[in-house]
Amino acid sequence: MTEPATRAADRTSTNPKERITMDDSGFSTLLARLSEKSRDEYYNPYTKFTWPDTVPEDQWWMNPDYLTVSGTGLIDDETTLKALARYETVNFFSLHVHGIRELMIEVARRIHTPDFAEYNEYLHHFIGEENAHMWFFAEFCHRYTGGIYPEAASPLRGEGFGNLWDDVIVFSRILIFEEIFDYYNSRMGKDQLIPDILREIHAAHHHDESRHVAFGKQLVKRLYDRALAADPDRREEIEKYVKDYMTYSVRSLYNPQIFRDCGVGNPLAVRREALSHPVREAFHVKLMTRVDRFFVAAGIFSTSWGTEHVSA
Ligand SMILES: [Fe+2]
Ligand SMILES: [Fe+2]
Repeated sequence: MTEPATRAADRTSTNPKERITMDDSGFSTLLARLSEKSRDEYYNPYTKFTWPDTVPEDQWWMNPDYLTVSGTGLIDDETTLKALARYETVNFFSLHVHGIRELMIEVARRIHTPDFAEYNEYLHHFIGEENAHMWFFAEFCHRYTGGIYPEAASPLRGEGFGNLWDDVIVFSRILIFEEIFDYYNSRMGKDQLIPDILREIHAAHHHDESRHVAFGKQLVKRLYDRALAADPDRREEIEKYVKDYMTYSVRSLYNPQIFRDCGVGNPLAVRREALSHPVREAFHVKLMTRVDRFFVAAGIFSTSWGTEHVSA
């Protein structure tokens, strides 16, 4: 049972560490508020965007500051960098299509089961919104490029930690995925340098994801506490898995195919050098700061992921 003092702190605190100890009534209120927002802000993804006939290739499809080689000096020719911006956009959108398809399958397995009964309504919004995102990300790639990249094989094994821990893994993966996307979407959704259609897609995704992230943090914490109470011995194994998933997610931004497609010589070496460049390592920590802090504050990480290196 939650102590009255904790409940009082949850109602008034602005400290993220205290907010993630939100009690049942706080979580129910959050779920109701997020569901109401999803209903009020519902849109038809198939009519929301005005798709131009073409997207000019002499424009930056992604701000060069957000390219995987930014700050490294590895590529300095503007034509090649603009090509990289196009292929990185396709890679970024493809990651959403493949990543969220896998995770939607896991969410669909859980909706309307007893353990997830209280989240049913919000999970319907989540699945509906992610289905819309998959559509518009894939639609952009098919309309203006050769389509999405194929799914890369993951070196991580699937779940299999036991049902309660698998729940933690699934929703932690969703949260990591959403925080990475939101880092880019929140910035490129306001970026006047990129074509209107791309700015609108990033902005629309950012708008929906802010709700998903708010839900995901509370849910992961609750699922974690439930799993830990039932099976405390797997704590370190889960921490390692989640950190490995963060590392894998960062590495997936550096798809070797993007370097091949934009015509750089020795694409695998360029990729390797970019991944391990000190400027990029500092960026990876920045990219993950918010979700890393959450996992530490929630007690899921004993040490920060920021101490690890994705290039190892
Ligand atoms: Fe999404
Ligand atoms: Fe989402």
